[in-house]
Amino acid sequence: MKRIGILTSGGDCPGLNAAIRSVAKASYEIFDCEIIGILDGFKGLIYENYKPLKTSNFSGILTRGGTILGSSRTPYKKMRVIEEDNIDKVKNMIKTYEKLKLDCVVILGGNGTHKNANLLRESGLNVVVLPKTIDNDICGTDVTFGFHSAIDIATSVIDRVHTTADSHDRVMIVELMGNKAGWLTLYSGIAGGADVILIPELPYKEEKIISALEKRRSKGKDFSIIVVAEGVISEYEKTLTKKELKEYRLKSKYSTVSYRLKAFIERETRYESRVTIPGYQQRGGTPSPYDRLLATSLGVHAAKMISNDVYGKTISIRNGVTVSTPLEEVAGKYKNISLDDELLDKAKLLGVSMGI
Ligand code: F6P
Repeated sequence: MKRIGILTSGGDCPGLNAAIRSVAKASYEIFDCEIIGILDGFKGLIYENYKPLKTSNFSGILTRGGTILGSSRTPYKKMRVIEEDNIDKVKNMIKTYEKLKLDCVVILGGNGTHKNANLLRESGLNVVVLPKTIDNDICGTDVTFGFHSAIDIATSVIDRVHTTADSHDRVMIVELMGNKAGWLTLYSGIAGGADVILIPELPYKEEKIISALEKRRSKGKDFSIIVVAEGVISEYEKTLTKKELKEYRLKSKYSTVSYRLKAFIERETRYESRVTIPGYQQRGGTPSPYDRLLATSLGVHAAKMISNDVYGKTISIRNGVTVSTPLEEVAGKYKNISLDDELLDKAKLLGVSMGI
């Protein structure tokens, strides 16, 4: 009999419940086990907040968005810091693990979660990690679950904005999630036929955006679609220190890049511009069939690892094959779009401006 803890941590995304269900279904199938839901991420381990689960808890959740276990952000840098509540977080997590007599904890999460999971591994706990995030920025895996659902949502936003941009001859700016990596913006920007795509990996030049818009007008195309990742920076901003950047952005009155761009474009060109920020819609709702399949497949792989007592790893997809990667190889590293990614080249050949 194995006792398995399971938790979801960090920002949620479509596919978490599909993965939870799959870990449970495959584990019940392969070996004798009890599954304990650790509630609200690592907080559940820290504050002993958990719930023993039954097979019925995993029924009917394949298509459900969010996470039945709840989630929270527990920054890695604070994990070893004793705060006002005087709690030693790492010690408490080990205590809860031991009290529940767990054989392992299955952890579903993104980059921050991988660092915390690695810390638990270093502390001697058995962990298996599944990579989730709409940002697709986890090292070692070609794809994370949540990413494709978010592409579907973002692309449908761009499609809808497209028709109204055309009717009104406007510049439409769609701001998507992605602080450090531009995967979601690049993929849905191309899928949605954007004219300008701005990603954090390529600091943009404002004048290049203007020349792209003017080029379209000169060809009789009176509307344009700009798709921008929330975390982009301009070439100029790149030269500033953190403090200078903060002051510079405060002065601009607008807290988001899309509104800064709108103000700039209207000042420079007088083209009427509008902003759309789909925000948390990108993380909500039912997972796409692709993500259901991916999350389910990763969940089965996790159950197989547990049955073979393989721990301390995250599950990755590499060239279509499911493998596991040691956590220490992945924790603390981001997967960004490489500057020689062939999709960047293809975007260029399609006449898309990357703002550079
Ligand atoms: O899950 C990653 C992400 O979607 C980022 O793209 C975004 O910046 C962030 O989460 C915001 O999440 P929250 O407001 O929940 O911290």
